[in-house]
Amino acid sequence: ARLVVLVSGSGTNLQALLDVIAAEGAAGFGAEVVAVGADRSGIAGLERAERAGIPTFVCRVKDHATRAEWDRALAEATAAYEPDLVVSAGFMKILGREFLTRFGGRCVNTHPALLPSFPGAHGVRDALAYGVKVTGCTVHLVDDGVDTGPIIAQGVVEVRDEDDESALHERIKEVERSLLVEVVGRLARNGYRIEGRKVMIP
Ligand code: GRF
Repeated sequence: ARLVVLVSGSGTNLQALLDVIAAEGAAGFGAEVVAVGADRSGIAGLERAERAGIPTFVCRVKDHATRAEWDRALAEATAAYEPDLVVSAGFMKILGREFLTRFGGRCVNTHPALLPSFPGAHGVRDALAYGVKVTGCTVHLVDDGVDTGPIIAQGVVEVRDEDDESALHERIKEVERSLLVEVVGRLARNGYRIEGRKVMIP
């Protein structure tokens, strides 16, 4: 399968995918990263792609007159690489209608909380502030809501009394990276079908 990965930050989830593909080979893993896209320049995620010799593109909201135009440009830049799956790996923008028209049902996101609890940009902070004792991460299909699409897999992380946001996020990200790699590999190798809110991987 051809993957386009979208990033906004450090790109450690992207790196986990690149590492497993380097170790197992694209044929062994079942997928290759054909391009990495970002909504901003100068981020470590893009450097990771460049280091791996993978083409990158940047599509910034502020370079477009409207959010809808940005969304169309992002969809077009992504479509140019003909992905089978789009992986939103720490991409901190909501994908719009044009993007989802083209890639809906083929776009996977990872979120650092156990959805449907604590959606949005501050899932770790919000879970900590609420005082939950377990949290984790969710890999799900993207729909037109904020972190509301069908759940594919979740991983659990215990909250410690001494946790602050960054310590907890780091432990979540360890689980998140292996979950994302596992899910993307299974989707790519086996295919999947969607029945209502159920994502079934044979
Ligand atoms: C991940 O925890 C992701 O779920 C969240 O931001 C983090 C991205 O990390 N939205 P990285 O850029 O993959 O290192």
